[in-house]
Amino acid sequence: MGDGAGRYYDRLADLWDELYAAAVPYDDGFKFIDKLRRRYRLEKAILDVGCGTGELLRRFEDAGYETYRADRSQEMVRRAREKCRQSLLKRATFQDVSVGRQLPIIASFFNSLAYCQTPTELTKTLKHLRGQLQAGGLVVFDLVTVDDPKKNTLVFDVKKFELAAAHVSRTFFGRALRRRFTSDMTYVIQWRSDEKQVISERTTRGCFSTEDVVRCIERAGLTPLEVSNGYMGKIPTFVGQAPH
Ligand SMILES: C[S@@+](CC[C@H](N)C(=O)[O-])C[C@H]1O[C@@H](n2cnc3c(N)ncnc32)[C@H](O)[C@@H]1O
Repeated sequence: MGDGAGRYYDRLADLWDELYAAAVPYDDGFKFIDKLRRRYRLEKAILDVGCGTGELLRRFEDAGYETYRADRSQEMVRRAREKCRQSLLKRATFQDVSVGRQLPIIASFFNSLAYCQTPTELTKTLKHLRGQLQAGGLVVFDLVTVDDPKKNTLVFDVKKFELAAAHVSRTFFGRALRRRFTSDMTYVIQWRSDEKQVISERTTRGCFSTEDVVRCIERAGLTPLEVSNGYMGKIPTFVGQAPH
């Protein structure tokens, strides 16, 4: 199973919160999942796979949940450890994580499961996560989907960010080709100390339709409970339930 993220997150970890976290609806994500927990009468415990710097789990920790986190990137894990002191944290992939107990809820936020590059990989990953769930437990994740995963497209974008310690410009060049989305991201970082740094990394994600994802959930032995605009606006949120 390939590492579609490469070293991208290790190299971006120190800048991640300032570049991205401010625009991500972690509060809405927390509320959405906590409401599901109450509806299905689950205990307050959660594992976040692909947890990044721990922004989502911080909310669960504050709300008294027992929290567990896993991420493949050593540097993201280091940042998350600084932020969330209580939760058990592992450097682990979603394909192999286990925390020594069955969980009521597993979440994956901000398109992280797109690093499963094919429907087969996504199914295998969801099957593994199902094995970590209690009977009736939930897996909740958002995933960018496209109408036609076979359609080849190009995307180009340039953006600037004003951070506390640096001006950053980001060039994004992405292409969907044969059901995979490869993006080349180049960040030019002009530190206020006057040093300049360039980070250029490639990542590869899978291209899925919403129907593909629902099929993967079913093939993993989970019941698809809902597909909704849960917490990420237009990006669908998927909820699957382990058998009782
Ligand atoms: C788009 S970021 C989202 C991070 C975090 N969930 C957030 O909301 O900020 C994707 C994350 O998935 C992690 N990741 C990529 N492939 C992974 C894998 N196979 N297993 C676990 N984590 C992975 C990356 O290291 C990165 O932290």
